[in-house]
Amino acid sequence: MDAFTALYSRKSTRDFAEMVPGDAFIEKILNAGMAAPVGRSRYETMHLTVVSNYDLLQDITHITADETSRNRAPFYGAPVVIFVSSNNERKDLRLSDTGCIIENMAVAARALGLASIYLWGFIAPMKEHPDLVARLNLPEGFEPISALGIGYAKQDLDTYSEPRHAIDVNYVK
Ligand SMILES: Cc1cc2nc3c(=O)[nH]c(=O)nc-3n(C[C@H](O)[C@H](O)[C@H](O)COP(=O)(O)O)c2cc1C
Repeated sequence: MDAFTALYSRKSTRDFAEMVPGDAFIEKILNAGMAAPVGRSRYETMHLTVVSNYDLLQDITHITADETSRNRAPFYGAPVVIFVSSNNERKDLRLSDTGCIIENMAVAARALGLASIYLWGFIAPMKEHPDLVARLNLPEGFEPISALGIGYAKQDLDTYSEPRHAIDVNYVK
């Protein structure tokens, strides 16, 4: 799949199958994350945690899922969740750096035929439970910022040759 097809075909999946992606796929996705731009090149302020521990994902789900929210939120059954954490003292850079890393990983996942979902909403409720955050075994001082759920979609993934969304543009020439 070429780069533009992968970009256009990345789409949030909210219904994952149980099958777990192989380690080789996860490694490629992590490498794509490491290829992302990070402000002031401070890669040491970022940290990636691959969680495939069913019990931990279930415990987070039970504590953070809003009963009125979408089915099987926050992970929608994704069997692997990659947490992106930061200890950057410039807190304004944390979300931007994380966004770049997550998007690279999401596009890489799609290029490999895997589905993904950007997950931010559950992070604040999860942080209200330090015991759950502790189970990520993060290095001292790091905080989870967002996560990417990865797996196989229950329904076949579509392939797109153009963007599915539009953003207003103006030109200054
Ligand atoms: C910063 C950010 C946070 C997001 N947080 C969540 C989330 O917590 N839960 C969720 O289901 N989707 C989340 N999404 C996914 C968006 O809802 C989704 O990307 C958007 O609706 C566009 O759809 P698409 O990804 O299929 O193109 C998030 C996306 C971004 C960029």
